[in-house]
Amino acid sequence: NRSIINILDLSVEEINELMALADKIEAKPEDYWERCKHKKLATLFFEPSTRTRLSFEAAMLELGGSVLGFAGASSSSAAKGESVADTIETVSNYADIITMRHPKEGAPVVASTHTTVPFINAGDGGHFHPTQTLADLLTIHRTYGRVDNLCIGVCGDLKFGRTVHSLIDAMLRYPNNRYILISPEELRLPEYEIEKLKEAGAEFRETTDLEGSIPELDILYMTRVQRERFFNEEDYLRLKDIYVLTPEKLKNAKETMGILHPLPRVNEISVQVDKDKRAKYFYQTLCGKQMRMALILKLLGLDK
Ligand code: CP
Repeated sequence: NRSIINILDLSVEEINELMALADKIEAKPEDYWERCKHKKLATLFFEPSTRTRLSFEAAMLELGGSVLGFAGASSSSAAKGESVADTIETVSNYADIITMRHPKEGAPVVASTHTTVPFINAGDGGHFHPTQTLADLLTIHRTYGRVDNLCIGVCGDLKFGRTVHSLIDAMLRYPNNRYILISPEELRLPEYEIEKLKEAGAEFRETTDLEGSIPELDILYMTRVQRERFFNEEDYLRLKDIYVLTPEKLKNAKETMGILHPLPRVNEISVQVDKDKRAKYFYQTLCGKQMRMALILKLLGLDK
């Protein structure tokens, strides 16, 4: 079986193939309506989710397969103390492919050693979220026709924002991307991610200034301050509205700039921005479903 814990578990060639397959699915969805007939996807979500769980489920249903699973640890036997390992051993008897979200970093690694079916990490704590990155890459590719030679601003909670960590890991594998890391001091990108930028010889800078950075950007990737990962509510309340993107702040942005956000949004992008043609964050949710369809097909060996 194959596990996707981290975006680095897919080669660049495979990511490019997945994007091409997502385009084919979009062009001719009827060709894929029965591909996963009699196959079952288990969605095991120990943490809340709207997009990731529902897009995985929609993806499998659109491929003609079935879905089973739980939303929230309280409705599974985890609430009675069952381990992740035992949960996965059990569900492996019921499903052909498993995706799991868990609040603990590293839980997907444990899970993947207890199953013989393909396993996909749907987000682990503040660590990684590889399928969100697939959605992000397809959105960027469809916006620019490439995922290299771009200036990317990531803004907000870069410390706990797992989507940012996975996105940087992915973009570093495409040449000549430049990074502007926009955050308050307390929510800086973790040192292990900074080291990756340095090791790759990437051009990057850290700043607290969103407005001053915007004119340079090809992509602005906004993120939510991750309340659930804070130890202290006071710190969260102090930092939560530190960056709010408004039409006013976009005055000096490039006409071609793409505004991405993994969602959910709290307050960091004003709803007035939704009408701007550069806003891609709801389109990103469609790209997420198409990339998850492509990934399910690939991991089940049904992509050709
Ligand atoms: N982007 C994302 O992971 O959204 P959900 O938490 O709603 O799944």
